[in-house]
Amino acid sequence: MNVNKFKSMKGKKPIVMLTAYDSVFASIVHQAGVDAILVGDSLANNVLGYADTLPATMEDMIRHTQAVRRGAPEAFIIADMPFLSYQCSLDEAVRNAGRFLKEAGANAVKLEGGSFFSTTIERIVKSGIPVMGHLGLTPQSVNVFGGYKVQGKDDKSAKYLLEEAKALEEAGVFSIVLEMVVEETAKMITENLSIPTIGIGSGRFCDGQILVINDLLGMNPSFLPKFAKRYSNLFQISLEAVRNYVSDVQNHRFPFEENVFKAGE
Ligand code: KIV
Repeated sequence: MNVNKFKSMKGKKPIVMLTAYDSVFASIVHQAGVDAILVGDSLANNVLGYADTLPATMEDMIRHTQAVRRGAPEAFIIADMPFLSYQCSLDEAVRNAGRFLKEAGANAVKLEGGSFFSTTIERIVKSGIPVMGHLGLTPQSVNVFGGYKVQGKDDKSAKYLLEEAKALEEAGVFSIVLEMVVEETAKMITENLSIPTIGIGSGRFCDGQILVINDLLGMNPSFLPKFAKRYSNLFQISLEAVRNYVSDVQNHRFPFEENVFKAGE
C-alpha cells in the first residue's frame, strides 16, 4: 500500500481501516487484511485512561507508532497528530509531522480541521509527508462543539462541510476521515471529491470505513458508540480468563504438572 494505491481504490473497492496502538494488535490487524492502520490519538482515551483525546502528547504518539510499526513491518501506517502539535506554528507542524516518518516509521500523518489548516497541510505535504484530513466531529475540538455531536444535519452545515472538504483536497490531502457526519451529507461529499473519504459514524456511502479497535473487540463494557459494532466481547473473555487464573492459584491448582521444571529433565 502507498498513497497512490490508496487513492486509486476510490469507487473501486471499499477501503478498510482500523486503529491499533501497540505491536500485538498491529500484527493482528495487519494479518486480518486491513488496508491501513491508524495510530489514533484515541490512544489517550482507549489505552492511557484519559477521558478524551486532548492529553495525548507527541512522545505518546511517537512511542506507540513505533510499537505499531514493529508489530506490522509491512503495513501502511498513518499516525495522528495530537492536540497542539500542529496548531501553534507552521514550523512546529512540519517538524512534528516529520518526526512520525523519521523516528516512528509511519507512512503518513492525519490531522483534524478544515480550511484554517490549508497552509499547514500544504507545507507538510510539500515537505514530503502525506497528510490525511479529518472533518465532521473532530474530537480535539470537543470543547468547542460542546459534546460529541452529529455533524452536517442541515443544508447549511452540509454545504459548509463540502467546502471544507474541497479546501483540504486542494491543500493536498490524500484522503479525508469523516466522523459522525449524517449519511446523506457524507455521501454528497464523497461524490464530490476525487480523493477517498473514510467514514466513522458517517454511514454506508463513504469510500472506506474505520473503527476504533477497542470498540470492535468489545474492550469497553460500559460504552459503545451507536456507529460501532462489537465483533467480540474481549473484556468479558479476558475477565473470565483472569478469574480462572485467580481461582486456580487460590485453590492450589496452578501451576499444573506441565508448567513445572524438574531436576534431571
Ligand atoms: O483517533 C482516532 O481513533 C481517530 C479515528 C476516530 C478516526 O481519529
